[in-house]
Amino acid sequence: MRIDILCLFPEMFVSPFSHSIVKRAEERGLVQVVAHNIRDYTHDRHGTADDYPYGGGAGMVLKPEPVFEAAEHIGQLTGVDNIPVVLLTPQGRPFTQRIAAGLSEYANLMLICGHYEGIDERVAENLATDEISIGDYVLTGGELAAMVVVDSVVRLIPGVLGSDESVTDDSHADGLLEYPQYTRPERYRGWDVPPILLSGNHGEIAAWRRRQSLLRTAARRPDLLEKATLTDKERAWISDNS
Ligand code: ADE
Repeated sequence: MRIDILCLFPEMFVSPFSHSIVKRAEERGLVQVVAHNIRDYTHDRHGTADDYPYGGGAGMVLKPEPVFEAAEHIGQLTGVDNIPVVLLTPQGRPFTQRIAAGLSEYANLMLICGHYEGIDERVAENLATDEISIGDYVLTGGELAAMVVVDSVVRLIPGVLGSDESVTDDSHADGLLEYPQYTRPERYRGWDVPPILLSGNHGEIAAWRRRQSLLRTAARRPDLLEKATLTDKERAWISDNS
């Protein structure tokens, strides 16, 4: 997969993708992440990428021309069109594991990071195919949001995680929060690992984990529980136990 990111601060992406799983995926040729500076597509000597908002108001607005020109130039370089072009904005639809999984199936992806007060609406209407928010709070720019999207998408690309780093048990993979995890030592400061996990009984361990997932989701994220696919028995069990 090739991911092109259009932004005003491409150097922000160097460190986050120079470690761990994303780095390993790049080294193995499974993903290529290229950050482009929108300012490189401006035509005046000051590299002006923003301007005052029509109608007045505070802050500056990212101009449409350099964003369109950058996207078109990259489209010519990569020779592909009809790819997802995602605008990161607090006004987008909330990012979820399901959206990450959908994006991970494409060979190419383009992310556009807004900055300042916003980005000219014609980018959202005529260039972006999707608008995504990573949460109900406002960042100073879309770069951090793009990092979140890249990280969560890359780990879902087949072959990126080893078999011992399976994604199927992840929180949110099946619409539920993940069960609690423990590692050695068996007793730490008097706190014991739940004995069932030491029993070697895989059936009972799986059942315990499923119950923990259900209880945890009911307690912390009842909104998720409504949408998750549970058996009638599981729903009844939750109302008896939480
Ligand atoms: N840009 C600024 N805030 C954002 C958010 N919450 N999600 C995505 N992009 C953003």
